[in-house]
Amino acid sequence: IDPTLDLFAEIERLKKEKNAVILAHYYQDADIQDIADYIGDSLGLSQEAAKTDAAIIVFAGVHFMAETAKILSPNKKVLLPDSKAGCSLSDSCPPHLFKKFKEKYPDHLVITYVNCTAELKALSDIVCTSSNAVQIVESLPKDQKIIFGPDKNLGAYVMKKTGRDMVLWNGACMVHEIFAHEKITKLKERHPQAKFIAHPECEDHILAMADYIGSTTGLLNYTIKNEAKEFIVATESGIIHQMAKANPDKTFIPAPPNNTCACNDCPHMKRNTLEKLYLCLKNELPEVDVPREIIERARLPIERMLDISA
Ligand code: 13P
Ligand code: SF4
Repeated sequence: IDPTLDLFAEIERLKKEKNAVILAHYYQDADIQDIADYIGDSLGLSQEAAKTDAAIIVFAGVHFMAETAKILSPNKKVLLPDSKAGCSLSDSCPPHLFKKFKEKYPDHLVITYVNCTAELKALSDIVCTSSNAVQIVESLPKDQKIIFGPDKNLGAYVMKKTGRDMVLWNGACMVHEIFAHEKITKLKERHPQAKFIAHPECEDHILAMADYIGSTTGLLNYTIKNEAKEFIVATESGIIHQMAKANPDKTFIPAPPNNTCACNDCPHMKRNTLEKLYLCLKNELPEVDVPREIIERARLPIERMLDISA
């Protein structure tokens, strides 16, 4: 790429020329969030992907999100700036093993968290995101037996909130499972006025300390509505860009992880860069495709979720 190129201007030009839309998750780099047409959590992004009339969707997020967009808009071209942008949670649930697991519980309904492959969604009855998991479980009859995967932490949180029992797949997110209880306790002591907010992918002992638990959109809205001036944030660090933009007078402190060498960046989300986004729009590559047969089976569980969340 010519280093003198104004990437923001070029991306804007290409977007118009190609009738493309850029959808970005809150965990993306600040530059990508700033050029996006829509920024959101997983639910908001799938709703947007389902209704856009653009010819090309550039999905600034991870692979399962681009796949979900393709399933909802199969006739559109879906691009992902870095084809290797995966997800540790999705990887923790290989479809062939999940299929065997599911066979052990033939009378159970299968709810899968959207952070999974299209193939896994095709093995599900209903998909959910972190913002509607509780609502989706509550929409089912009380005696309905449920398998929930792949995130055991979100699953445990939903069980606690709804009082229901569910069979959980043993998966977790590499960013959300390493928050350090003791370090957060000390941080809270040093900032007694700060609100501690956490994503439900965090472990139970971290959630137990939280003043508010919610999806990325839920967390952002909480920082806008709550009058506190300081927030300790237990989720991926990208969301802090929108929190700081929406609340210039407030302070946001990333919750510390266990490992002193670690930060709260998701290495998969952060594979996308502004340069890669520009190249992917210019070359219309890498494209994310999903086999027709999987689209047909995965679409219904996603649509059920969108109907319940409408
Ligand atoms: P939400 O977008 O639903 O908050 O989920 C966060 C996440 O981990 C996406 O990978
Ligand atoms: Fe997956 Fe966790 Fe990264 Fe989200 S933050 S994409 S769940 S690894």
